[in-house]
Amino acid sequence: MSKVVVMDHPLIQHKLTMLRDINTGSKDFRDLVKEISMLMAYEMTRELPLEDAEIETPLCTMTSKTLAGKKLGIIPILRAGLGMVDGVLQLIPAAKVGHIGLYRDPETLQPVEYYCKLPSDVPERELFVLDPMLATGGSANAAIQFIKDRGGVNIRLVSLIAAPEGVDAVHKAHPDVDIYVAAMDEKLNDHAYIVPGLGDAGDRLFGTK
Ligand code: PRP
Ligand code: URA
Repeated sequence: MSKVVVMDHPLIQHKLTMLRDINTGSKDFRDLVKEISMLMAYEMTRELPLEDAEIETPLCTMTSKTLAGKKLGIIPILRAGLGMVDGVLQLIPAAKVGHIGLYRDPETLQPVEYYCKLPSDVPERELFVLDPMLATGGSANAAIQFIKDRGGVNIRLVSLIAAPEGVDAVHKAHPDVDIYVAAMDEKLNDHAYIVPGLGDAGDRLFGTK
């Protein structure tokens, strides 16, 4: 069974509090999503494999660690996942970026696909799916399935805020996928919004309603 890692570093918690605040406007919201994503990237790459490299310091030669040749890929779920891309790329600039366009139908709550463009060598990459909100898990599950259908195997999901229902749904559908979150919230409300949550992440990022 995969694991859920809650990244409760004080900096992340502090920034998340500002992010949740209804009085935080779009510009600050975007900056905070980027900063939190960068901090999360530090933690979510903790288990990447290393290999030895021979280098020369100004004083002597030594064997030191370097990231093993494994290629990385990040895949934001449009739209809100876009807000996380720059922060993650700041720490792993060589990662390729794929995109999956999904929105949650407000009536059925089912994810609807409208775009998918992934790196051609997706099977060889360690992949990080980015979406700030893991609510029912429908969007994340659909995105992970698209990636698997195109050969992706090493997949992790990274969300800022998750509801227990979403985590359970992803565990059930994709038991091989580890989940990284900044906070596990209490529940979903009747409209499948995360409570206490932060509202609609896409609308707050892009100033739409
Ligand atoms: C939001 C969010 C997730 C999804 C989560 O996207 O960014 O993708 O809802 O809900 P779920 O876990 O119940 O599927 P939304 O559908 O609002 O689209 P947007 O990113 O374009 O705003
Ligand atoms: N999507 C959001 O943007 N927020 C939620 O709380 C649930 C789904």
